[in-house]
Amino acid sequence: MLSEELYKTAALLMSPGKGILAADQSVTTMDKQLSAVGATPDADTRRKYRQLLFTAPGIEKYVTGIILYDATIRNQTDDGTAFVDYLIAKGIIPIIKVDKSTKPFEGFDGEVVTEGLDGLKERLEEYFKMGARAAKWRAVVNIGENLPTIESIKFNCLLLARYARLCQEAGIVPIVEPEVIYAGTHNLAKAEEVTSLVLRTLFAVLIQYRVDLKAVILKTSMVLAGNKNEKQSSPEEVAEATLRVLEGAVPSEVPGIVFLSGGQTPEQVTSNFNAIGKLEKENGGLPWQLAFSFSRGIEQPVQEAWKGKEENVSTAQKVLLEVLERNCKADEGQL
Ligand code: 13P
Repeated sequence: MLSEELYKTAALLMSPGKGILAADQSVTTMDKQLSAVGATPDADTRRKYRQLLFTAPGIEKYVTGIILYDATIRNQTDDGTAFVDYLIAKGIIPIIKVDKSTKPFEGFDGEVVTEGLDGLKERLEEYFKMGARAAKWRAVVNIGENLPTIESIKFNCLLLARYARLCQEAGIVPIVEPEVIYAGTHNLAKAEEVTSLVLRTLFAVLIQYRVDLKAVILKTSMVLAGNKNEKQSSPEEVAEATLRVLEGAVPSEVPGIVFLSGGQTPEQVTSNFNAIGKLEKENGGLPWQLAFSFSRGIEQPVQEAWKGKEENVSTAQKVLLEVLERNCKADEGQL
């Protein structure tokens, strides 16, 4: 019975033609983004920003779920409606980021480990009661000289497996996100090799620790050369490498795969996503649904249009809906 609910949630999250908005920036990251556009980095501005996103008229046409940060899931609109209730009423599934970010992985220079397992069972129970039906945990894999190590990959995958299993016990669909970092001088072949190793390791560990793959969503990086490599990858190269890696590493029981934007510009990430959508069609479909789950790749232009000013709210909402619509078209390879 519980499994059936999880499968239903996963299927809803992966409804064709829509995506997931990642609005789960931590307080520190959100404040940096607000300051960058001249808005005041404080609690009320953060609340108003999230309100702008969630109340954009018709946003439910483009997103199935929105990823929230702990402070946001506890927050409200101007009229006192809990954000979670507001989203549920619009048919949008509240998703909660439950990891507590990364810390240096002692003994492994340049690598990090994600924290957040302590008290997770109880936190998940509370989030479920609040209305969350999916969660997100992000692991980070850096590419560099002699990096990543297999030890750090395995360790982070074990944490993802423990998190995923706890989520499923709590009636929450785990989104597992091993982000292979785009920053760096590495070439496309290196990104492909690392992403493939990470995803193969991840699924082997998830299976070993008895996570139900039919109730897991993978959130992955696209496969592309590092941002400081002299040969930047074309959308066609990104699409080919990304689908090659996914087809070789992701079991077909997994219902869906979503992409993060990872520091690509909004234009770049949408055009790469469109090339993936096109190639998917040419190949005659894939075993899993694909969708976007960008944060910066969607929100940067929205923040630039808003600048923290009340009089810019409706313009910023228009920008949000336009960017979402473009990404929904890109999902079908229709740009
Ligand atoms: P970006 O799209 O900005 O990479 O963020 C996605 C995300 O959820 C990171 O955890």
